[in-house]
Amino acid sequence: MTQPSTTLATEAELTALGKTISLPIVEGSEQEIAIDIGRLRRETGWITLDPGYVNTGACSSAITFIDGEKGILRYRGYPIEEIAKQGSFLGVAWLLLFGELPTDEELDRFKADIRREAGLPQELEGLFKAMPRDGHPMPIAAAAVSALAAWFPEPESDEDIYLATVRLMAKLPTIAAWCHNHSQGTPFADSDVDGLYGERFLKMMFSTPDAAHEVDPAVARALELLLILHADHEQNCSTSTVRLVGSSKAHLFGAIASGIHALWGPLHGGANQAVIEMLEDIEKGGGSARDFLERAKDKTQNVRLMGFGHRVYKSYDPRAKVLKAACMDVLEKLGKGSRLLEIAMELEEITLEDEYFVSRSLYPNVDFYSGVIYKALGIPTGMFTVMFALGRLPGWIAQWIEMRQSPEFRIGRPRQVYTGPTKRSLE
Ligand code: CMC
Repeated sequence: MTQPSTTLATEAELTALGKTISLPIVEGSEQEIAIDIGRLRRETGWITLDPGYVNTGACSSAITFIDGEKGILRYRGYPIEEIAKQGSFLGVAWLLLFGELPTDEELDRFKADIRREAGLPQELEGLFKAMPRDGHPMPIAAAAVSALAAWFPEPESDEDIYLATVRLMAKLPTIAAWCHNHSQGTPFADSDVDGLYGERFLKMMFSTPDAAHEVDPAVARALELLLILHADHEQNCSTSTVRLVGSSKAHLFGAIASGIHALWGPLHGGANQAVIEMLEDIEKGGGSARDFLERAKDKTQNVRLMGFGHRVYKSYDPRAKVLKAACMDVLEKLGKGSRLLEIAMELEEITLEDEYFVSRSLYPNVDFYSGVIYKALGIPTGMFTVMFALGRLPGWIAQWIEMRQSPEFRIGRPRQVYTGPTKRSLE
């Protein structure tokens, strides 16, 4: 496993309240500069305050690089535009997990191991049956992943970590399919099916005991691309959650279940569902993209243009660029016109010329076009964020492994600035 590498460049001086402290400057391999404040509290008693972690690096990492100003995303150094042409999500997952693309032999073994571990304990059916049929699949998926921690030991050795990785990668698609089976009242899927990673998931999701579900090759390829584009995105909300929970040495499966919950929020992965609901609302209301845009700019309305804006990207999200092209391509191949795609493109066009969005550097993000594709692939809206979780899983695990094996490893424990009452007495 590649260890994070940082080079100590020079020192920064911080002067305040009559004290001066020298702090090391750390430089990343892409010349990103950070001031290492590790000594700050010990030597001055001060802390830093950064709500939302807008300026705070929580770790060194060698997995994913983003330059938000330039719209650059790379996995292990490879540009996302090149990665997107890799046909295999599992190959990309291997790259994230182990640092290099797999050989044919490694990939074959990974696929076979995943296929072998895809089944779920039969007793887990009881957990699904205890859930309401119309319950959202994200908390159900998180509960099932969490429950699996009761079946499998916390991984410690490299061999155990590989096995736990394979189990998570193998079982999450089956869990996702079971979420859909449960919502439809159809029998829980048999995991013994062939195909690409996403294709196997679609077969489990839609097959019935009487009829196997056939997946159009264009659909299988589009799904593989979607999974690849979601596979990692450095220290986002859900990944930071996985790292923070994992930093207490909590079970890997519990850390991943926590990541699934964090991803569910509409400001994060849940935006893909919110985008399609927004486009459908616009369509129902007569289809005026401009009217909706005016509402999104009016702060009294509490409405946001979902699928727009990003904490890190201050230019076009490179994943959205790839997805927009893929979206048009897959709809054409499937012979499906889409009024929702037309509304999305109209929204994008007027937004990119609107002063409010331009001055705030708000561009389409990965969630803006993904929902239109999921819909064309026949995936129900409630499952969109589960699809995001399937894609993000290798990134979460890779980041967890990197954290646990890093010399920087410590329990995550932020400080606070206390603003409550000073000492008072009940006597
Ligand atoms: N619609 C309207 N205004 C927006 C939007 C939006 N989508 N996003 C940001 N703004 C405004 C915001 O009101 C603020 O304006 P002002 O400076 O006048 O107060 C300014 O832009 C800066 O926004 P912010 O909320 O401070 O930015 P943030 O970095 O804290 O939030 C975000 C990032 C992604 C949560 C936010 O842009 C957002 O809510 N977008 C919509 C939800 C969405 O699409 N989320 C998916 C993100 S990409 C997938 C992933 O999570 O990885």
